[in-house]
This record gives sequence, structure tokens and C-alpha cells, in this order.
Amino acid sequence: MGDDASVATAAPLPRDAFAHRLLLGSAKKSYDPVVDIDWNAPLDPDKLFLPPEVISLYGTPLWEAMSPEQRRELSRQELASVLSVGIWFENLLNRLLLRELMNGDPTSRHSHYTLTEMGDECRHMMMFGKLIDRIEARPYWPNRYERLVISSLQLFLRGSMVWVGALVGEEIFDAIQRRTLDDAELQPIVARAMRIHVTEEARHIGFARDALARRAPDMSAAERAYTRMCVAIAAPLFVHLMTNWHMYVRAGIEDGRGARRMARSNPAARRALGIGAANLGAFLDKQGLIGPIGKRIWQRRGLL
Ligand SMILES: [Fe+2]
Ligand SMILES: [Fe+2]
Repeated sequence: MGDDASVATAAPLPRDAFAHRLLLGSAKKSYDPVVDIDWNAPLDPDKLFLPPEVISLYGTPLWEAMSPEQRRELSRQELASVLSVGIWFENLLNRLLLRELMNGDPTSRHSHYTLTEMGDECRHMMMFGKLIDRIEARPYWPNRYERLVISSLQLFLRGSMVWVGALVGEEIFDAIQRRTLDDAELQPIVARAMRIHVTEEARHIGFARDALARRAPDMSAAERAYTRMCVAIAAPLFVHLMTNWHMYVRAGIEDGRGARRMARSNPAARRALGIGAANLGAFLDKQGLIGPIGKRIWQRRGLL
């Protein structure tokens, strides 16, 4: 373990000073989902697993025709789907961060916070897995082809793209989970898990934004163009992956693909995701990292 006396001799880089603050925050407020969640608490037979406004079919004719039990089942399946995307996304992010560590100074605060974040994500993946099991659902796992695509993303996501990828996943997810906090109508165990995740993710988002903001002014024209291309593709792709047709079938809707079509053109669902992306969009725009094409794509998908 490093001692603080030895670091005090050299003035820390600004990004290390920021990482140092995040390390202190992590030491003060972190959770262990194994003991910090009451896994034996019974599920409430009447409560939903997600707030209705973030459910993809909310407000559609299909939703209006559903009984309370069907809505509850759909909310369970949608939560399992969101958590599954969360798990594979954090799996990918940890692989990227591990690789970045090889290019950095292992004695720096920046590297130390990167390791802390990876530890957080390991606990989140376990928390999500336990939660899927606890709500009596099954994960939605990518098939062999999709796993290959997800794994190959590591080849394209380098340097500032790691942070763009991190932000797209974390901020869109964050907006959904913030809606679940302090909602008395929601399953308490879900609200608790989301509270833990929001707290730790706030630091991750700060870390990624800081890294990107420091890098953006000195980017070469090529790096900027490449980053803009990734921004244009990443957010719509992530949103696309959030709605898979299997969850509708598991919720008892016969025409899963038809339900997915309805969900993807549902203005209420677009609004819910748009709130998540708006903050991120404004940040990326300020850094000059959304190009005109990206803006048009984001707008068409209701993300800006
Ligand atoms: Fe996480
Ligand atoms: Fe994170």
C-alpha cells in the first residue's frame, strides 16, 4: 500500500488530484451487496419491478390492454433485461480499463482509482446477477454471435473512446435507475440496489467526464473525427440493445417482435431515454465531440 507522505513530495497532476478525491469518496461510501442488501426480504406481490414510465410499452395500446398482473410481469422481465445489459456492459468496461492500466503509471492515483472502479463493477455485476435471481427471472444473455460482437468492441475502443463508451453506458443507465429511487410503489429490493449503484456510478461518471474533458482540447483532427463517429453510433446502438423481443415473449406477449416495434416507436419510452441522454449529449457537445451527423442521428432517435 502506498503511503501519503511519499506522494506529497511531488505536486500531483490535476487528474491525479481529482482521482485522489474519488478515492477518498470511495473509502467513505462504498457498498458490499452481499451484506448491504437484505436478500431474504420477501417480494411485494403487488408492486412493480420498474416504475411504469420507464417501461418500454408504457402508454401504448398494448400497455393499456394489460392487466395489473401482466404489467407486473413485464416490469420484471424488463428489469432482468436492463440488468443483463448492465452486466455485459460492465464486463466490457472492465476489460477496457484493465488494458488502460498497462499503459499507465501503476503508482499514480489515476491508476489506483481505475482499479477501485473495476472493483466496484465486479460487485455491481454480482449484485445484478443476484437481483435477477432474486426477482425470479432469468438473465437475457447475448448469443454466441452477439458475444463475439461485444468482445470485438475492445479492438475499436481505445484512448478517449474508452471514456465515451463508459459514459454512454453509464449515463443512460443512470437516468433509468434514478427514476427508481425513493419510489414507494416499487419493489424495495430494487430501489435499494439502484441506490447503491447510483452512488458508486456517480464517481465513475465524474472520472470518465474528467478524463474526456482533459483530453478533448488536445485531440488530433483524426482522433476527434473517430470519436465523433463512435458517439454517433454508440448511443443509438446501446438504446437498441435495451429492447429485445424475448422479454416480451417471456412476459406472455405472443408477438414479441411486434411488441418491440411498438416499443421502439413509443414516444413515452423515447422521452424516458431522451432524459438520460440529454445530459450526456450536452456534455459531449460542449467538448466538441458530437458532429453534425451524430447530432442528426441522436435527434432522430429522440436522444437530443
Ligand atoms: Fe456499475
Ligand atoms: Fe460504472
